[in-house]
Amino acid sequence: MPRLLAAWRRARRSPPGPPDRLAPAELREVARAVQQLSQGLTRERSLAGSRYMDDPALLGAYLLFFWPVSYAQARQVMGELPVMGELLHLSGAALDLASGPAPLAFAALDAGAREVTVADRSATALAAARELAADAGEALRIRQVDLTGAKPGQSDVGGPFDLISIGHGLNELYPSRLDAPERRAAMLDSWMGLLKEGGCLLIIEPALRDTSRNLLRVRDLLVQRGRVVRAPCLYRGNCPALIKESDWCHAERSWQRPPLVEMIAAAAGLRKESLKMSYLLMASPNSTWKSPNRFRARVAFVTWAVDPKAASASRSKKSIAPSRTQPSFAFSAGT
Ligand SMILES: C[S@@+](CC[C@H](N)C(=O)[O-])C[C@H]1O[C@@H](n2cnc3c(N)ncnc32)[C@H](O)[C@@H]1O
Repeated sequence: MPRLLAAWRRARRSPPGPPDRLAPAELREVARAVQQLSQGLTRERSLAGSRYMDDPALLGAYLLFFWPVSYAQARQVMGELPVMGELLHLSGAALDLASGPAPLAFAALDAGAREVTVADRSATALAAARELAADAGEALRIRQVDLTGAKPGQSDVGGPFDLISIGHGLNELYPSRLDAPERRAAMLDSWMGLLKEGGCLLIIEPALRDTSRNLLRVRDLLVQRGRVVRAPCLYRGNCPALIKESDWCHAERSWQRPPLVEMIAAAAGLRKESLKMSYLLMASPNSTWKSPNRFRARVAFVTWAVDPKAASASRSKKSIAPSRTQPSFAFSAGT
């Protein structure tokens, strides 16, 4: 957190301040921008797909509040990869797409990746990533890439990679297109061509109903293209959470909020008491499915969520036992 705070102060040409907290005027300014980002990215979603990272106030808010959340989410999931039999990927080369100021890239480095390339269309976000890396003594390879236009093979990112990640970026691609799931699946499928044999694609998305359901649609399309899922569940058919409009699926992990995040959350009227996210881990092309039994314990943390308003007709809590035609994890529905 001190590095993020120092980077934020340098960007606004403030004099150095306390390394671990914001002065009252700074806190008010950051809380306002965090509210704006939160509103625009999670509630109205008017900022999704816009160039908000190029606005210094919003990038600053991202660094101090959303960056630590994304980092912690990715660390949690990457920490579970060895349990899923994916140990290999964390010691190799990683590529982080729609990286922003690189929280997932730092999570990959801290999980053991040797070289990490970050790619984003925002030069401002990439400059922040470069500065954070220099400050931390880490070497990130930085590439400006528009994912909706670039062909992976012609994008100068290099490869092949053991791990390709995309955190909270998928929902920002093709945001106003009716065929967004198809385009996102095709885009991811083409980037999966840069995975080494045995490598993985990790997608993390917000735990909102719409973004989670859209991730499940992309999951189904990738499976229809013959791709193999490693986590959070090993069900091979179309995801049954998509049957009812009111359902979605997300993971929740506990975390120790950094004091600065706690301070900003309180000032902005937000809660980040647990880490909620939707995620998907896909195996490299030509992989085979693994046995559900090995993974049952880990994926039990995935929650089948129901929108209480949309599901008012069927409010009773219920558990659905896994069977051959249901996902392998024990999931439950209820409010
Ligand atoms: C919510 S931020 C996510 C940043 C970081 N990955 C994280 O998990 O916190 C979404 C990022 O997607 C990037 N982005 C949006 N559209 C893009 C596109 N067409 N090509 C490349 N990056 C894009 C934005 O610039 C932004 O940095």
